[in-house]
Parts: sequence; C-alpha cells; structure tokens
Amino acid sequence: MLGNFSYSNPTKLYFGDDALSFLPKELEHYGDRVMLTYGGGSIKRNGIYDAVIRVLKDAGKEVFEDPGVMSNPTVQKLYEGCRIARENNVDLILAVGGGSTIDYAKAVSVSAWCNEDPWEKYYLRMEDVDNRIIPVGSVLTMVGTGSEMNGGSVITNHEQKLKIGHVFGDNVMPKFSILNPKYTFTVPKYQMVAGIYDIFNHICEQYFSGTDDNTSDYLAEALMKSVVHASRIAVKNPEDYEARSNLMWCATWALNTLIAKGKATDWEVHMIGQAIGAYTDATHGMTLAAVSLPYYRHIMPYGLAKFARFAKAVWDVRTESMTEAEAAAAGLAAMEDWMKDIGVVLHAKELGVTEEMLDGIAGATFLFDGGYKALTREEVVEILKESL
Ligand code: NZQ
Ligand code: ZN
Repeated sequence: MLGNFSYSNPTKLYFGDDALSFLPKELEHYGDRVMLTYGGGSIKRNGIYDAVIRVLKDAGKEVFEDPGVMSNPTVQKLYEGCRIARENNVDLILAVGGGSTIDYAKAVSVSAWCNEDPWEKYYLRMEDVDNRIIPVGSVLTMVGTGSEMNGGSVITNHEQKLKIGHVFGDNVMPKFSILNPKYTFTVPKYQMVAGIYDIFNHICEQYFSGTDDNTSDYLAEALMKSVVHASRIAVKNPEDYEARSNLMWCATWALNTLIAKGKATDWEVHMIGQAIGAYTDATHGMTLAAVSLPYYRHIMPYGLAKFARFAKAVWDVRTESMTEAEAAAAGLAAMEDWMKDIGVVLHAKELGVTEEMLDGIAGATFLFDGGYKALTREEVVEILKESL
C-alpha cells in the first residue's frame, strides 16, 4: 500500500542545447552580487566559464569568484566559501559544475549566515536551518548525483574520517538548474561511467525495499532500463546527444525524491560508499560500484521476490522456467555483465582500500533499516572483504 506523503519540488529546470539562454531571465529575480562557484578548472577549458561570465556581465552583475571546489568537497573549503559569501554579502550563489560544486553551494548557502559551526550543526547534529539562506542556482556540467534538483549536500571531513550528506528542504534546493547535455561531452570517461553507475544505484537504493505494489517501483524500472540503454551508447560515443540527454534526464529523476514516494528506501550501498570515500577520497560512483555486487548478493535472500522481478523487468531475463532464487541470481549476473561492459570499478582495492582500513570504514558506515536486511557492523566488514 502506498504510504502517506507530501510532494513538491521547487527547482525550475531548463533542458536542452539552448538552456543557457534562459539564465538572464532567471537572474532578474536576484540582486546584483553573484558568487560564481566552480571546480578545478574544467569549465575554463571547455568554454562554459566564458559563456556564463558573458551572461552575468551582460546582466550587469558583480561577480565574486569562488573556484577550486574539489570532488568530495571538504569542510575546510566550506569555511572558505562561507567567508567569501559573507564578506561580499552575495545575493545568489551560481554553481557551475557537477554534484560536488552544487552540493557545496547548498552547504555555503545555509552556512554563511549560521552562527554555529555548520559541520557540527548540519552534518553531525542534523539540525534544520534557522538562519538566512542564500539562494542557489546551477549550471550542470556532469551527470550523476541529481544535486541539480534535490536538497542533498555531501561534505567530507578528512580529519574526522567522515563523509556525511544532509538532505535539506525545499528552501535550499536550487531555485533553477540549467541542463545542457552538450556540456557533459567533455567529462572524462572514468567520471562519466562513475556518474552513470551513481544514477543506477540511486534508483536501486529506492527500489530494493518493500513488498507492496507501488507505482514508484514501476517508474524506477523504466528509469533503470533507460540508463542501461543510453549508457551502452554513451560509452561508445560520448558525443551522442540523444544518449547524453537521456542520461541527464534520468539522473535528475533518479534522485529528486519522486521515486521514493510512498515507500521505504535502503541507501546502505551509499552509506558504505561514503565511508570508503572518507578514507580514500575515491570517486563517489566507483565506491558504490565496488561494493554493490557483494552487498546485493548478501541481502538477496531477504528480498528474493524483488530481485527476481528486477531480473525480468530490468534485464529481460526469461525467468519462466527458473526458481525465484535462480531468477534473482540471474538478474544480478546481468547487472554484473553491464557493469563490466561500461567499465566501472569492481574491486575496492583499486580505490585504495586496504585490509587494515576495513574496521574503520565499517565503523564510519551509518546503518539504516529501510532495506531488506538491517546490517550489523560485522556484516559490513564481510561485504567490504568481499569487495576487495
Ligand atoms: O572540478 P572540475 O575541474 O570541474 O572537474 C570535474 C571533476 O574532476 C569534472 N567535470 C565536471 N564537469 C565536467 C568535468 N570535466 C570535464 N568536462 C565537464 N563538463 O568531473 C569531476 C567530477 O565532478 P564532481 O562534481 O566531483 O562529480 P559528481 O557530480 O559525481 O559529484 C560527486 C559528489 O556529489 C556527492 C558525492 O558524494 C560527491 O561528493 N553526491 C551528492 C548527492 C546529492 N546531492 O544528492 C547524492 C550522491 O549520492 C552523492 O553522494
Ligand atoms: Zn550517489
């Protein structure tokens, strides 16, 4: 039975190869002082920076640059961004980049005018925002996280060996996001594939839970099929506009809260993946890929019917003559073949994980009970061992 819920999503999207032409109209809603936040320089090499600066200047905006947002943005960078935003009293944060840049922009947006340590308030104590929030807009350049249309903001504290996400509310989600699939053509293959697996796993995290008949699961299956189909084309030809657009659109819908409505969700792969990230600073999507197969094989007996359905609905496995357990296993085998085809990392060792780290990583893994099996810390260690 569909559980009770409310649904709203305030982010306005502009999608397509002319999406940036809508930025001037959006800028009219905000004051003149714009903080331009971006990553390590890819936007300067591929021309996106020049295009955005032109729009900002033509609109008469005063631009305060905040470059250097690293993948897996750190708490130190957050403190620096807060200082820039506060000292210049900015009216809008325009994030141009991937999930890291947009997540970071949201963190600055709620932290710049916060009187306490934002790491402690939002990430350790998970408190709500009770201070001024600076609006955020985004120009997306890398596909995967869904950050362009959600309230998620993941920050890493290397000193404390913790990587934690806070899901903020409607008032922190980007006010608008510009989605031009062509902007993703220059993303390096490793990052593109990591992003593709991130999309797929966001859907899995919301699909592998519950035993009821739920519309969200049918939507999830359709999205998974589209991701698999488009990914096979995009890895062969990164400049295939149709495939890159479908991936971009799937990524947004995979994690803008819609397919979680009315049901429990799992998120344990992400919890283990984030703990690996805290220890190794590895690429997010690859941390998920490395632990997924050991994890899903571990929980499969507790959610057999759903895994058998996954085989048939997503991978077109002919399950008629199979037992439920055989069908379930065949679905994961098909997923493994696809993961090998697109080239994700299947062994955590390749990400720098060592035997000595396993206890620490398991300790840094938050344990949830929304999926088919609530894990113990010992089970996390077992799964990690298998993932090596
Ligand atoms: O920093 P630059 O130079 O821009 O390079 C980036 C970075 O090296 C590069 N890149 C991005 N767009 C490009 C490009 N290179 C060439 N051409 C382009 N058009 O790609 C690299 C990866 O970018 P990044 O933003 O780090 O990747 P992603 O979008 O995967 O974001 C990862 C972060 O998002 C968090 C992750 O934990 C991680 O910290 N997540 C956020 C979520 C959310 N908001 O809901 C959910 C996710 O599960 C995830 O946890
Ligand atoms: Zn993710």
